[in-house]
Amino acid sequence: MASFLHLPAIFTLPSPLHGASFPARSRPNSLFHTRFSIKCRYAEANVNKDAFNSVSATIDVLADVKPERVVVLGGSGFVGSAICKAAVSKGIEVIGVSRSGRPTYSGSWIDQVNWVPGDVFYVNWDDVLVGATAVVSTIGGFGSEEQMQRINGDANVVAVNAAKDYGVPKFILISVHDYNLPQFLLSSGYFTGKRKAESEVLSKYPNSGVVLRPGFIYGKRRVDGFELPLDLIGEPVERIMSATENFTKPLSSLPASDLLLAPPVSVDDVALAVINGIRDDDFFGIFTIAQIKEAADKVRV
Ligand SMILES: NC(=O)c1ccc[n+]([C@@H]2O[C@H](COP(=O)([O-])OP(=O)(O)OC[C@H]3O[C@@H](n4cnc5c(N)ncnc54)[C@H](OP(=O)(O)O)[C@@H]3O)[C@@H](O)[C@H]2O)c1
Repeated sequence: MASFLHLPAIFTLPSPLHGASFPARSRPNSLFHTRFSIKCRYAEANVNKDAFNSVSATIDVLADVKPERVVVLGGSGFVGSAICKAAVSKGIEVIGVSRSGRPTYSGSWIDQVNWVPGDVFYVNWDDVLVGATAVVSTIGGFGSEEQMQRINGDANVVAVNAAKDYGVPKFILISVHDYNLPQFLLSSGYFTGKRKAESEVLSKYPNSGVVLRPGFIYGKRRVDGFELPLDLIGEPVERIMSATENFTKPLSSLPASDLLLAPPVSVDDVALAVINGIRDDDFFGIFTIAQIKEAADKVRV
């Protein structure tokens, strides 16, 4: 019985022994690939001894391994928890940061996340960013003008700079669609905060930063221990809007038309688009609602 070494990555096996060809994929430009050689030995191999000339043989396995360690800021929130859950399901190591720390409800994925309670303005970044390969920020929200500037803008600017200082190679920001709003409405603290955060991501991470701009996000949102099934509204609306897209498109140049016309997106699609962003080195820049859905499709199984 041959014993095989299982590797989490696609690998090449330059084996003259049996001429098998394995799918090979390598991205030599990526900084964070660890290329190493592993010796593995067949024990009591049930093989053609003429071909091997011995009972046991030593082969070299070259493996491209990209260990992923993702920090999700706001990991306990509606969008953040979907991202943590999706990342865990893809075998990615996840650190979830929020002031409240670990969510109070249960779920097997929750046990697989390393929860760090902390406020992004005061957290000890040594506890979360060392060895991280990506930071995803879902931090944002509503309140007074000042609060919205602070939470949507300043909090993310702090996070982007901390990630940059710690050499984290990728930053993904959950921002927001602009709904085609007139400029005077876009000057609210919510949107100006978001755009400030976006600029910081794109200037500090010009070749890897990701800004996702979803509209209304639907899914099951937990509020005070209850689950709000936003998908009961969001899902059919998304379907109707996609079916009528050709008729409504001409209206989209009207100011604020996207308040009605921007299709909602499921929280799972936002999470999958983030996974795509974590995994694909060529995925960077600003992504619209339609592009978020396309990115999600790339990693959906
Ligand atoms: N939901 C939507 O329909 C929608 C649509 C478009 C864009 N977005 C954007 O998507 C993002 C996520 O939205 P969401 O609905 O998931 O919001 P949410 O449920 O309120 O989640 C926000 C998360 O951020 C954490 N947080 C807030 N302030 C923090 C701080 N100072 N330090 C550390 N953690 C902090 C919160 O946990 P603690 O309170 O425990 O700290 C929570 O985990 C936001 O930026 C939002 O603007 C949402």
